[in-house]
Amino acid sequence: MIAIGADHAGYEIKEKIKELLISMKKEIRDFGTYSPDPVDYPDFAHEVSKMVGSGNAEFGILVCGTGIGMSMVANKHKGIRAANVESAAGAKFARSHNNANVLAVGARLTPWGEVEKIVKVFLSTPFEGGRHQRRVDKIHTLTNL
Ligand code: RB5
Repeated sequence: MIAIGADHAGYEIKEKIKELLISMKKEIRDFGTYSPDPVDYPDFAHEVSKMVGSGNAEFGILVCGTGIGMSMVANKHKGIRAANVESAAGAKFARSHNNANVLAVGARLTPWGEVEKIVKVFLSTPFEGGRHQRRVDKIHTLTNL
């Protein structure tokens, strides 16, 4: 299960991501927003992050204007490692080194062609573990999250 969410700035890209995920035969849950009318990005980041943090979704994908606000909110949640990614290379390392479980992208900064690559790479790149596991563990021990 992949949980997705966006604010008004990310709405159109979120719809495209949804189509892409459906074409990839992924099970998805769309937490909105469902129109370009102005909304507040934390409302959607919280819902998607709760799904991932509770284990009800394997990954979350969030879209706002920059990806910055969404990733800030997501990273407040227990167990969440959200990466604000602007390139396919970033998506690869967010997974392989950081074991990111939430992807945040910025609709106003990253064109659809790159977002499409980012999503594909993010979902197909495994965590490398090993030395990176120790480092990832320390992300959470610092705050007991
Ligand atoms: C909305 O205008 C914009 O601030 C929001 O989409 C996002 O970029 C915040 O981080």
